[in-house]
Amino acid sequence: MRAAGHILGECLSYLETLVQPGVTRNDIDRAADTFIRQHGCVPGFLGYYGYPKSICISVNEEVVHGIPSDRPFQDGDLVGLDCGLTLDGWWADSGCSVICGNGSDEARTLLAVTNEALAIGISQAVPGNHIGDIGHAVQEYVEGKGFSVVRSYVGHGIGRDMHEPPQVPNYGRPGTGNLIKPGLVIAIEPMVNAGSAAVHVLSDEWTVVTDDGRLSCYAEHTIAVLDDGPEILTVRPTVPAAEVVKVGDRTRI
Ligand code: MF3
Ligand code: CO
Repeated sequence: MRAAGHILGECLSYLETLVQPGVTRNDIDRAADTFIRQHGCVPGFLGYYGYPKSICISVNEEVVHGIPSDRPFQDGDLVGLDCGLTLDGWWADSGCSVICGNGSDEARTLLAVTNEALAIGISQAVPGNHIGDIGHAVQEYVEGKGFSVVRSYVGHGIGRDMHEPPQVPNYGRPGTGNLIKPGLVIAIEPMVNAGSAAVHVLSDEWTVVTDDGRLSCYAEHTIAVLDDGPEILTVRPTVPAAEVVKVGDRTRI
């Protein structure tokens, strides 16, 4: 899973650079599919419960599960990239958001809060904590910034399948839920709305959008819990070194 996660981190770093005005969602999908296969992996999302593409791209009021199309990005778009792959049957699932060109103040703040929320959630994934500690920390931080966390979609265990128990909500109470033990591998994925937490699915049966039409932002890492804390398996090489800490040969926040 470490090897799978490494390739997915490299893939997302590359895809981030492609998001420019005029580039289409399908351009990114093709780039993702090609990168994944060239690295000996299988695009995990393609065909997953009938999903038609190799990546989800969710822009502005779209929360998650947006289906790529020939629609181009526009200056100011808040673009969520969510990708998954398997390597020898082992999954990695990760995503990040990027602003196309010049974003609004609200988009830039929402992006920063979402990335920090993910880091805070990861920091709670230590042996002896409970799953509820992750969601509680994410929720407290996000709501303290005046934003809301989506309830209808959650993070998850991951391994031989993309979605395994336990569910990992971005809300909750401290000390509740499963005990976190070394060996657990989970995907933590805060979805943060500028306005209300309410969302619904479009008639394409995939795209999740905010009810109020305001911005939503998303970030996700697959992380492994080791004896001394979390290891991010899907680190992107483009993330500034100041945001990650090396402990031995492992990368932690
Ligand atoms: N990262 C998403 C998740 O955790 C997966 C996208 S759904 C798919 O649920 F169908 F597109 F794969
Ligand atoms: Co996921």
